[in-house]
Amino acid sequence: MSSAVVVGTQWGDEGKGKIVDYLAENADVVVRYSGGSNAGHTVMAHGKTYKLHLLPSGILYKNKICIISNGVVLDPEKILEEINGMKAQGIDTSNLRISTRAHVIFPYHKAIDALQENALGANKIGTTQKGIGPCYSDKTSRVGIRVCDLLEPKELYEKLKVNLEFKNNVLTKLYNAEPFELEPMYQQYLQYAQELKPYIADTSLILQENLKKKKNVLFEGAQASFLDLDHGTYPYVTSSNPIAGGVCTGAGVSPKAVGTTIGVVKAYSTRVGEGPFITELNDHIGEHIRERGHEFGTTTGRPRRCGWLDAAVVKYAANLNGLDYLAITRLDILDELPIIKMCVGYKLNGQKIDYIPASLNELAQCEPIYEEFEGWQEDITNVRKYKDLPKKAKKYLERLSKLTNTELGIVSVGPSREQTMIMCDIF
Ligand code: IMP
Repeated sequence: MSSAVVVGTQWGDEGKGKIVDYLAENADVVVRYSGGSNAGHTVMAHGKTYKLHLLPSGILYKNKICIISNGVVLDPEKILEEINGMKAQGIDTSNLRISTRAHVIFPYHKAIDALQENALGANKIGTTQKGIGPCYSDKTSRVGIRVCDLLEPKELYEKLKVNLEFKNNVLTKLYNAEPFELEPMYQQYLQYAQELKPYIADTSLILQENLKKKKNVLFEGAQASFLDLDHGTYPYVTSSNPIAGGVCTGAGVSPKAVGTTIGVVKAYSTRVGEGPFITELNDHIGEHIRERGHEFGTTTGRPRRCGWLDAAVVKYAANLNGLDYLAITRLDILDELPIIKMCVGYKLNGQKIDYIPASLNELAQCEPIYEEFEGWQEDITNVRKYKDLPKKAKKYLERLSKLTNTELGIVSVGPSREQTMIMCDIF
């Protein structure tokens, strides 16, 4: 058996889609194990740019089994939009499998997501408003509706009726909003069920079979370590466990099935939505990175907050995920900068620390400790071998590797598949 998991080490948007797409070439099975349509993976392939939200990046290759497993919250409208979009571009989706155990997003989840954010005012999380949090809340409250329920019309009707009664009370009495009608929603979801039926399966069984046959399985993380519900900068996190540990519960495989762990690190930091961001740059350098890196959200179009690379964040993620390799992305975005800084720890109450405190108050008091690097100030987008990178760029990367005690496995210097240097053997 050979398996690998690709996780984000920062706050998402590290370029996981590109790394997964690259590794998917030698994978037999590609699995999305957490999150939902809040994710946005941009992949360049066949000379085109694809924006994926729910579909695993492996869909762009022929003959890969692509799995949306139980840990994902599935918006039927969105997945069908993506499937039909792929089909229209001539991409075969017949190898897609969706878990019977995945929870289903309904319009009331999205409405409550937006209303709750609005009610939080200045304390809002800055969610993608895709209904992620409310759907996972229903899952943990044990009132959620699963994909298997979509295939049982009577069950679906009963569950939707009970849920709608409750949600409509919340909508009308708590938020003074419009209620939803049962019948049209029920009919709509029956229709979705018919369209999704060919893809629905027990994906945990499929995975176990493939692992037994020693097939190459790639687990594709969405979001990132610091958006993890348990280990991220709570409450400014998502509602799932995107870390490598989330693979076991999110895909229904044993811890022994999680092989090589690859942490994707953007060569600088970005964050969308609210929440602590110690190395944020609210100046012309932040602006330069945003413009040069086109740092605007794939899912919401929001401008991303930009800042220096935080090695303390990456080190914490390396330990949390047991990283074997770092996959560095977007190094070329730093090409023009004369000086590049890397945060190596923080000053908190006069002490030097290199971990991320849980308390938001403490996080707010953390002052970054920076190391400065001379910028390489040359175009690296055509470099194809690590040894050919400018010395100054290698110095920056190797310092990160040392600080995080993790080998450099992949370096990416542009969006296309060709602009990827691989220094490790994964499959
Ligand atoms: P939610 O997942 O929509 O509930 O949003 C919670 C937080 O996670 C917000 O700060 C979002 O901006 C952030 N978030 C969710 N998905 C992604 C992603 O794929 N990339 C970056 N940030 C994300």
